[in-house]
Amino acid sequence: MCFVSRDFVFLEAILLLLFGTTCSSSFVKAEDKIKSAVFLSPKFELGPGSVINKHYYDIDFPRGHIALKSFNAEVVDDAGNPIPLHETYLHHWLVQRHYQRKYVTHTEDVSHMMLQNSDHVLVRNSGICQGNAISQYFGLGSETRGTTTDIPDPFGIEIGNPEEIPQGFEDKWLLNVHAIDTRGAEDKLGCTECKCDLYNVTVDEYGRSIGPDYKGGLLCCYDHTQCKLKEGFEGPKRSLYLRYTVKWVDWDDFIVPVKIYILDVTDTLKPSDDSKGLNSNHDCKTEYQVESCGTDHKERNGCVDVKRTSLPLQTGGYVIYGVAHQHSGGIGSTLYGQDGRVICSSIPSYGNGNEAGNETGYIVGMSTCYPKPGSVKIVDGETLTLVSNYSSTKEHTGVMGLFYLLVAEQLPDQHFRHSTRSSFFMDINNMLLDN
Ligand SMILES: *[C@@H]1O[C@H](CO)[C@@H](O)[C@H](O)[C@H]1NC(C)=O
Ligand SMILES: *[C@@H]1O[C@H](CO)[C@@H](O)[C@H](O)[C@H]1NC(C)=O
Ligand SMILES: *[C@@H]1O[C@H](CO)[C@@H](O)[C@H](O)[C@H]1NC(C)=O
Repeated sequence: MCFVSRDFVFLEAILLLLFGTTCSSSFVKAEDKIKSAVFLSPKFELGPGSVINKHYYDIDFPRGHIALKSFNAEVVDDAGNPIPLHETYLHHWLVQRHYQRKYVTHTEDVSHMMLQNSDHVLVRNSGICQGNAISQYFGLGSETRGTTTDIPDPFGIEIGNPEEIPQGFEDKWLLNVHAIDTRGAEDKLGCTECKCDLYNVTVDEYGRSIGPDYKGGLLCCYDHTQCKLKEGFEGPKRSLYLRYTVKWVDWDDFIVPVKIYILDVTDTLKPSDDSKGLNSNHDCKTEYQVESCGTDHKERNGCVDVKRTSLPLQTGGYVIYGVAHQHSGGIGSTLYGQDGRVICSSIPSYGNGNEAGNETGYIVGMSTCYPKPGSVKIVDGETLTLVSNYSSTKEHTGVMGLFYLLVAEQLPDQHFRHSTRSSFFMDINNMLLDN
């Protein structure tokens, strides 16, 4: 593939003279330059049945003006051994970007609310949930070991651009890890679904009472809660880490930036009260409940809970990558365009063994979409429909239906023409003048 489009023909000769090679060399260059680093989160400790939900500020992360190419993670112990989900269930991890005022240090684990002050400005993804909801750059759960996150060349997530970072601030990264130790649990699945009765919880993390209709979900499995164990079970506390691998390339003008969108199947658009119904407010609730179909419904819908929502995407573009996030019981999720075409379908795979990455009954991976760049386009203002299916042979609490999309607003040849043409002309003019 070649960056240089037809109106550049007259320049090709000059480019060949200047760089001694054809335009495709930049791809090779980009591939050669991929850097990779493995980091460990701060240590967290879990005993049987216990829960951590930590926010780690200023985590180790690649610095500078770069393009992120992938982010992978897993839970490991002190010796670096991968820990299987049936021992430590990784409910989720999230990586959030924020600008932090220079010379302010802030690494202790404090409430997430601390992000909202003058020293920290959360930099959310491109949408589309309300406020700071679902604002992460990366995030997965139990499926993290088996889910591909690579962003193909020449695309990448641009970070650390000094022209975008406010004066006196720098790019920082916050890691949220929510993990549940289910060793010895009376009901492992129930603990992972955060069923309130197993946690003996009636008030949330902030002391607000939880209504009787709320059977399970994040409100019931916050930091330091304890899930019910089998009578008399005892096991050692252990030290664990989230080990994460980041790949990136140094920024250059040949990289085409992608925007991150995360759609939530629980999102309902509410007309805003401050206008005449022109604006709409998103209302992402993050999680929902799947009712058991019961015996009488089995034949009618095959015990599949189908949840859907339709949401407009203000700015469209070309889909470069797509993946859904579901919990145990999930059987697939599809994003449709306004005309009903499939934009991306993402299907979970379940483990059928015992070892880390292949745990029976857990989602160990989600299939991903890599449409040929240019082949799947979302037009500006297009209304997308997200469908999330769960098996409803059993009730499920605290399930999720997110869809993560990477969208490029331009294709490589357009990007090159629009963003690089003037600088090439300048460079060439300078060189001609210098000679
Ligand atoms: C559940 O919580 C209540 C009050 O918070 C407490 O009195 C009771 O002992 C707890 N039950 C168990 C089994 O821990
Ligand atoms: C979801 O369920 C509906 C109804 O059974 C079906 O038409 C659709 O293909 C399913 N989609 C996925 C991704 O499983
Ligand atoms: C998972 O474990 C089962 C049982 O040991 C084995 O048959 C299967 O090949 C494993 N799958 C993977 C992907 O390793």
